Amino acid sequence: MTGALGADIYDCDPIADFDAIHEAFVRYSAITLRGTKLTPDQHLTLAERFGDINVNRFFTPLPTHPAIALVVKEAHQTQAIGEGWHTDHSYDTEPALGSLLLAREVPNVGGDTVFVSMAAAWEALDSELKSHLLTLHAWHETAHVFGRRATKDDTRFRNAEVANQRTRHPVAIRHPLSGRTCLYVNPVFTTAIDGLPKAESDALLASLYTHCTDPTLHCRVRWQPGDLTLWDNRATWHKAINDYNGQRREMHRITVTGCALDAASH
Ligand code: SIN
Repeated sequence: MTGALGADIYDCDPIADFDAIHEAFVRYSAITLRGTKLTPDQHLTLAERFGDINVNRFFTPLPTHPAIALVVKEAHQTQAIGEGWHTDHSYDTEPALGSLLLAREVPNVGGDTVFVSMAAAWEALDSELKSHLLTLHAWHETAHVFGRRATKDDTRFRNAEVANQRTRHPVAIRHPLSGRTCLYVNPVFTTAIDGLPKAESDALLASLYTHCTDPTLHCRVRWQPGDLTLWDNRATWHKAINDYNGQRREMHRITVTGCALDAASH
């Protein structure tokens, strides 16, 4: 899709062509299979080819398929799910490998999803800062996002009482599949750099986040019903663009179990 990441894939059979899809997933970090006709069961079958399903604790699922999270914004709602830059499940000790988001109903215009390459973001940092970041770990938490106060009036969310995850990961990880170094902090779930005074941690995270908003690191998916985007959570950030008030958007998301993350080295 862009110089940094992303690929559109047309006319494939997602199950029969799995090996090629997996190769593209590792290479491009976010891939969109255009115009699929996947049923919820086929969506699950494809996700299971990547690994075990990791059911999201906090999103209300499809009534018929408890392993599929319903990512919906009704016409009367003003807040979209996933509006902030984030990496799914970074708060887990074994963060999700990836997510498969299938468009069921989309607005006439708007409702895109934007992705950032965290490998390209790393590569664009200067070498002195990289050396410092390679020595650091950061904390990732859920209470401030999915805790009771944030979710009590919105039936799209559940389980606020178990929003107690607090996990430490390296700030720079070696990607488990590609081997590339990826920056692994994100504005929604990362709360602090371990061991730094709060002001210093906040300033460092803010400067990294500003760096990652450079559009040369991005790609943007414009959806049609049936499109399926698969993204690698260890290699990307993403956010939902909330620019379609008054219209309905319904997406189905499956998240796949990952592994513990190793620190990158020089
Ligand atoms: C998400 O953050 O998983 C949802 C993204 C989107 O709805 O575009």
